[in-house]
Amino acid sequence: MYVCAMKILDGKLAAQAIKDELKITIAQRIIEGKKSPHLAAILVGNNGASETYVAAKVKACEETGFTSTLIRMEEDISEYRLLEKIEHLNNDPDVEGILVQLPLPKHISSKNVINAIDPDKDVDGFHPVSVGKMVEGIPTFLPATPYGIMLLLEHYKIETKGKHAIVLGRSNIVGRPMSILLSGNGNPGNCTVTICHSHTKNLKEICLQGDIIVAAIGIPDFVKEDMVKEGAVVIDVGITRVEDAGRKSGFRLKGDVDFDAVSPKCSWITPVPGGVGPMTIAALLKNTFLSCEQKN
Ligand code: GUN
Repeated sequence: MYVCAMKILDGKLAAQAIKDELKITIAQRIIEGKKSPHLAAILVGNNGASETYVAAKVKACEETGFTSTLIRMEEDISEYRLLEKIEHLNNDPDVEGILVQLPLPKHISSKNVINAIDPDKDVDGFHPVSVGKMVEGIPTFLPATPYGIMLLLEHYKIETKGKHAIVLGRSNIVGRPMSILLSGNGNPGNCTVTICHSHTKNLKEICLQGDIIVAAIGIPDFVKEDMVKEGAVVIDVGITRVEDAGRKSGFRLKGDVDFDAVSPKCSWITPVPGGVGPMTIAALLKNTFLSCEQKN
C-alpha cells in the first residue's frame, strides 16, 4: 500500500483552458479589425502518426479561430522543392507560423529544412536561433512539447523549485529543451536536472532520485514501478502505437510509463493519451498567436 493519493495531470482539460482563452482573445482581435493568426503546416509523405498529429493541429486551429493551411507534399518530393515552399511561406505576410512535421523522408535533411524557416515564424522553436535564445533565457518560441509540459506544470501549480528532475531522452524535440526549461530560472523551473540516455549507467538508481520524471524515449512501459520514488511527479511523453486488434484503428497508444503499476506511487501523473499530447498542440497555438501579435 502506498500512502500517496495519485492525481491526474489532465492535459485535455488544461489545453482546453488555454484554447478557450485564445479563442476569446482572437475573437476580440477580429472585432478590432485585426487578422486571425495563420499557421501553415507542411506534411511530407503518408506517415500515419504524422497524419494524425497534423490533423489534430489543424482541427485545434479551426476550433480556436486560427487560420490554418495544410500543405501536403509527396513522399518523394525533392529537398529543393520543399525549401522553395518554405521560402514562399517565409515571404507570405499572411502567414505568421510555419511548421514542417517531423520526421521527414530519409532523402531530406531535417537540419536544412529547419534552418530554412524564418526564425520569426518558427513556431516549433526548432531553428538554431530559437534554440540559442531559449538557452540564454531570451523570450522566443519554445518547442511545443517541452513548452506544453511547462504549461501543464503551471496549470496544476506543481512545485518545481529545488526539485530533482530526471529527463529520460536527449532528443532536440523533447529531452534536451526540457532539461533547459526545467533548469531555467523561472516558475516552473529552478530544478536540478539529470538527463539520461541510452548510455546512462545505473538508470534505475538515478530515476529513484527523481522528484519529477519526464519520460521521452519512445519505448512503451519502459518506466517501471521499481524505478519511481513514492510521491514523484511523472510526465509521460511517449505515444507509441501498439497493435490492438480490438480497436477499429488496429492500434492503441502506449506511453513510456507502465501507468497501472507506477501511478499508485505518484503524487501526479499524466495519462496517455490525454496528457502531454493536447498540451503540445496548445503550446503550438500559443506560439502562433504570439507570432501574430508581434507582427500585426
Ligand atoms: N514530430 C514530433 N513532434 C513534433 C513537433 O513538435 N513538431 C513537428 N514539426 N514535428 C514533430
